[in-house]
Amino acid sequence: MTLSPCYRPLPNLHLHQLPLYPTPLETEVVRGLSARQKTLPAKLFYDDTGSWLFEVITTLPEYYLPRAEREIFQHQGHEIWPHLHAGAVLVEPGSGSCGKIQPLLENTAPRAYVPIEISGDHLWSAANSLAARYPWLSIHAVCADFTQPLELPAAVPEAVRTVFFPGSTIGNFPPGEALKLLGNLRQLLGPGGQLLLGVDTHKSRATLEAAYNDSRGVTAAFNKNMLRHINRALGMDFNLEQFAHLAFYNEREKRIEMHLRSLRTQTVHLGEHRFTLARGETLHTENSYKYRPKEFAALASRAGFLWQHCWQDPQRAFSVHLLSA
Ligand code: TRP
Repeated sequence: MTLSPCYRPLPNLHLHQLPLYPTPLETEVVRGLSARQKTLPAKLFYDDTGSWLFEVITTLPEYYLPRAEREIFQHQGHEIWPHLHAGAVLVEPGSGSCGKIQPLLENTAPRAYVPIEISGDHLWSAANSLAARYPWLSIHAVCADFTQPLELPAAVPEAVRTVFFPGSTIGNFPPGEALKLLGNLRQLLGPGGQLLLGVDTHKSRATLEAAYNDSRGVTAAFNKNMLRHINRALGMDFNLEQFAHLAFYNEREKRIEMHLRSLRTQTVHLGEHRFTLARGETLHTENSYKYRPKEFAALASRAGFLWQHCWQDPQRAFSVHLLSA
């Protein structure tokens, strides 16, 4: 069999698949559904449909995060770039469509780019377009779960490393887990490496809640799609029609919570396990923590990083922090 030319990898593109779920997915889901507040692992948002719906979310008028982050890089990039090592290996956990890396590629001349993404098809196609667009750039696309400690493939060139972690993904981990993840990233970086990350900030409840309850219902569809993904991955029998999207700001915990609320009493099955949901009971699917710049700087130093800088947009809707390992 011959592969059609469009599937022949470009010379500057290298693909790596790491083992995806060291903890079996089933164990994780059973554990989550057995807890008093039932939870589901947020990484299950990102099958092909979920990754695509998330791209749509990033274009919604209410979802201010990507716009504010882009504004920071556009208007303050000239202050940011000189702080970053040139010629670094640039690593991006949760790279999605690789849509945010362009200014870094163009302004820091990296030695190589290493997008890490759990959604394989999404990764391969995004990396492929990028490789075609930047023929001078060596790309090592790694399909992996970045929430697990990881080592880069041996084929990745040796150079100082920079991790780019935009989109306030760090906010999707509770502080204890965020600390652990920052620790893992510090290991991956090694001494002298840098971490450039985007962190969403506190603001009015109305603005925060609108961002996760968009008027077109895309966030609701994204939330419910997790159930479809789990049905397919584990042979479960969630009925999507029997759940409603719920997102609200939990002021005490300083986080947006996303849930799926059961519209009636119902039982779902996973192999020999049965889980009953009362009417009105929720499945907690995601958190999105919000940090004041000072609060985030404190978390970063607890993780052993040297905090270097913070940049914000004029409305202070978002922040970009630079840390040194
Ligand atoms: N990290 C982003 C945020 O917290 C993206 C994100 C993760 C998200 N899960 C989400 C956005 C669910 C909307 C809904 O906002």
